[in-house]
Amino acid sequence: MDLTALIDDIVAAMARETERGTVASYIPELAKVDAGQFGVAIATADGRLLTGGDADTGFSIQSISKVFALTLALGKVGDQLWDRVGREPSGNAFNSIVQLEQEHGIPRNPFINAGAIVVADVNLGGHQPRVAIGEMLRFVRYLAGDDAIRINEEVAASETATGYRNMALANYMRAFNNVRHPVDLVLGSYFHQCAIEMNCRQLALAGRYLMLDGRHPEGGRVVSPSRARRINALMLTCGHYDASGDFAFRVGIPGKSGVGGGILAIVPGRAAIAVWSPGLNTSGNSALGTKALEMLARRTGWSVF
Ligand code: DON
Repeated sequence: MDLTALIDDIVAAMARETERGTVASYIPELAKVDAGQFGVAIATADGRLLTGGDADTGFSIQSISKVFALTLALGKVGDQLWDRVGREPSGNAFNSIVQLEQEHGIPRNPFINAGAIVVADVNLGGHQPRVAIGEMLRFVRYLAGDDAIRINEEVAASETATGYRNMALANYMRAFNNVRHPVDLVLGSYFHQCAIEMNCRQLALAGRYLMLDGRHPEGGRVVSPSRARRINALMLTCGHYDASGDFAFRVGIPGKSGVGGGILAIVPGRAAIAVWSPGLNTSGNSALGTKALEMLARRTGWSVF
């Protein structure tokens, strides 16, 4: 498989696309991003990194951070996490509150906002938000092997000023004692984790441990093989919210999207792929990112099915 030629074809095909989706506007800072951009990076299990398009342009990773936050939380509390967060697709939008009342404040999975807020509460672990945020930043830098990764403070401030739904979710779960720290501290940590800025190159590198059965490519282990498999399983079943079934149908690779327009996709044993294009489809997932992964899966045969 000539991945360089494939990337060139994908970049050319995406440049021709006219349906480019709509940039997220509920976080005002994200609405400023130019929708015309598209980037892709593929880190392979044999140690290559191939890139195309705007692969060096930084973007807000947003919900993709939930994968790294989940990895950290499982490292802290292990399977006890599942007493507080489920492992089922929600069938609802990423920011929905409807199931929380019927399900006693236990979110369906760690990738919807409610679940990620519980994970942020676990990761806070009695510390100040700056300690948890520092730990998260060190973790993604270690995974990507790149100390240049930063938090975009304007994006964090923008979401802090307008994150009414997340405030509602966090307060609601606090009423069930499933958020245990003060809500403003948990959300401060969560909003900063979402505001981490990475480019496709850094994101593909950061995802390598999930294609390598939990191993860090430079040596050592990030998570056990079974934990890596389970995180990938959750990405496949819950990584695109109420469009997770459609993503599995069209692409067939575990993937996690973010409203910044990025998607991290993992082909176990083969590749960690990052795509980015800021225009979103109606489910809140990158329109061109999904199309690009569909083309990539078709041409490589990398669907896990
Ligand atoms: O909490 C939020 O709404 C955002 N910080 C993250 C949401 C997100 O990325 C959903 N993904 N498609």
